[in-house]
Amino acid sequence: MTTLIAPSILSADFSRLGEEIHAVMAAGADWVHLDVMDGHFVPNITFGPPVIKSLRGLTSKTFDCHLMIAPADPYLAAFAEAGCDVITVHAEAGPHLDRSLQAIRALGKKAGVSLNPSTPESVLDYVLDRLDLILLMTVNPGFGGQAFIPSIVHKVRRVKEMIGRRPILIEVDGGVTPLTAPWVVEAGADILVAGSAIFQEGPSAYASNIAAIRRSIETVS
Ligand code: DX5
Ligand code: ZN
Repeated sequence: MTTLIAPSILSADFSRLGEEIHAVMAAGADWVHLDVMDGHFVPNITFGPPVIKSLRGLTSKTFDCHLMIAPADPYLAAFAEAGCDVITVHAEAGPHLDRSLQAIRALGKKAGVSLNPSTPESVLDYVLDRLDLILLMTVNPGFGGQAFIPSIVHKVRRVKEMIGRRPILIEVDGGVTPLTAPWVVEAGADILVAGSAIFQEGPSAYASNIAAIRRSIETVS
């Protein structure tokens, strides 16, 4: 399939979030990636369901919600009601991953699991049939603008093999640039999250920033 580009609004100007979403969608983005942080699971705090709900009316594109919160289960319904289409929980965020994934699908949403760089892909073994998306972190979650961890390219390849013919998408998040994008796409990534590489230099640069990522993967996707 065509590789999708999902800008992380973590790197957008929070004082003008609505305009930022319009601008990045007009610039050719496919999904909107929403980084929710709780200051507990990760050392940073961002936004929650009310902010997401206020943005929902701006676009019909997929709202891709990356929950970096623990516990996640008590808040899944609120994120579903806010209009998230994909809800991704971290495997490290709680002891009952299978239950969390069932709960997300029961809310009528696509279920995702995210793995920190140090988490082995074997945690996916017994939940593959409950998954729509696997988000592999290529930085330690919590902040935008960090350096890509190259050893995760191997994990992308292994997870692609584990998925086999199941309709599960692989998403990669953290330090994605025109340099690193081809490495993960070649290994099997379907969706690229990018924050700083897209939002750098303001709205007039978004289209060329997205185009640069697309160009970089032309020969591998
Ligand atoms: C990190 C977030 C990422 C991050 C990506 O915790 O999950 O989505 O914003 O930002 P860049 O592309 O700047 O690494
Ligand atoms: Zn993210």
